[in-house]
Amino acid sequence: MLFRLKNSFPTYYRYYGRRIAKRLSPSLSNIFENNYDQFSIDKDILNIISNKSKNKNYILNKNFKKNVIEIGFGDGEHLLSQVQINKDTHFIGCEVFVNGLGKVLKKIVDLNLVNIKLCGLNCLHLVNSLEESSVDQIFIINPDPWEKKRHFKRRLLNKEFISLLYKKIKRGGNIVITTDSSSYYNQISEIIENEEIDFEKINKNIINSGDKFYDISKYQKKGIVRGRKIYLVELCKI
Ligand SMILES: C[S@@+](CC[C@H](N)C(=O)[O-])C[C@H]1O[C@@H](n2cnc3c(N)ncnc32)[C@H](O)[C@@H]1O
Repeated sequence: MLFRLKNSFPTYYRYYGRRIAKRLSPSLSNIFENNYDQFSIDKDILNIISNKSKNKNYILNKNFKKNVIEIGFGDGEHLLSQVQINKDTHFIGCEVFVNGLGKVLKKIVDLNLVNIKLCGLNCLHLVNSLEESSVDQIFIINPDPWEKKRHFKRRLLNKEFISLLYKKIKRGGNIVITTDSSSYYNQISEIIENEEIDFEKINKNIINSGDKFYDISKYQKKGIVRGRKIYLVELCKI
């Protein structure tokens, strides 16, 4: 189902970077074929974007105490641990990297997880489709760093996207960002300090072993092994 949607709506799956690192194994291909329809919200979002839905926005699951989104979950280490710990919270994991999406889909099926849905679209379309003030928390754990200066414009966390996130977060909610890129951290800090973005409380820190949000994902772990600092930015809407 994913591949049929991608062929029909390529624009909405596109982003800067690779999408498939290696060929999908037969077992992951089967998982997509048999289970993606059930666990993905891609069709709902595409219907909203193309005005084919009676709803103007994607309505989050009201049967759970909280609604949390993780953007760019990679192979899903952080997302899956959150999903299993917080049974009263509903999660949406958004990832354009097909192998990561398949790995997490397999775990959802194997572990019979009922509090998670997946989105394989570029996250801009997901976030745009959300109701205002509807999300409790958004995780963006080590977004693609795009370290070369000429690639800075590809970074996900620019002024427009951070403003959009503010609109979608509930009062009392927050955005959690970690990165091992000092230039990305500085760029985010500048946007928050210089632009008129209204997050009422901002926590910025270098985190270390034992701190919350440290050592929580494959990509972050690689940074730690290489001796890189891990920066945390927490944007709170009060
Ligand atoms: C550097 S990796 C980090 C992965 C994971 N969070 C971790 O820490 O291991 C960034 C991830 O974001 C995903 N990504 C980048 N741009 C995206 C977008 N616009 N929408 C959804 N996912 C995106 C990439 O496919 C990649 O898997």
